[in-house]
Amino acid sequence: MQLPINIQEVYDKATCIYTQQQIETALDAMAEAMHTKLADSYPLMICVLKGGMVFMGNLLPRLKFQVEIDYVHATRYRGKTTAGDLFWLAKPTVPLAGRTVVVVDDILDGGITLAAIVAKCRELEAKAVYTAVLLDKPTSRLPGGLPAADFVGLEIEDRFVFGYGLDYDEFLRNCPGIYEVAAEHQ
Ligand code: IMP
Ligand code: MG
Repeated sequence: MQLPINIQEVYDKATCIYTQQQIETALDAMAEAMHTKLADSYPLMICVLKGGMVFMGNLLPRLKFQVEIDYVHATRYRGKTTAGDLFWLAKPTVPLAGRTVVVVDDILDGGITLAAIVAKCRELEAKAVYTAVLLDKPTSRLPGGLPAADFVGLEIEDRFVFGYGLDYDEFLRNCPGIYEVAAEHQ
């Protein structure tokens, strides 16, 4: 297979807005905040694939309390913006009834995806549902979107970014920092 023609150009012209070091400092602070709120509840940490995997993979070793992990994979139907239009590629496999759950995703943007995942966790009778995101675009929320996450790493403006799990056309998830795409590629 060939690399889609513009991926290298997207990378070359992008601007690093958060370095790996800055992200890791933010993860340390998140782990502290989680310890305060969650240490006694042995939470189930649910990674939202694929974007949440680098974030969760780096967060987990920072948590000094007992956790269980699971994953979900859900995508929004193209062009649809209501929670009911979520398409589930993988639902939670661990029973959620009575559990404290932390949904871990890459970014809170319109908030529709996370609102739908939180609703599903409640439907499955989780006792408490928290959300953790590496990035928050606070000015991009849509009606019906999750208003805010319980744990936020870093805030960004309403621009398209990639790296640390976030993709540009499914590539560039492996870049170690957060990169803002140049205007011509937004
Ligand atoms: P929303 O909150 O329902 O609008 O969708 C959030 C999802 O959209 C995230 O989990 C990402 O997969 C994707 N997304 C939103 N903003 C960005 C971005 O700037 N770069 C890469 N993916 C993004
Ligand atoms: Mg994505």
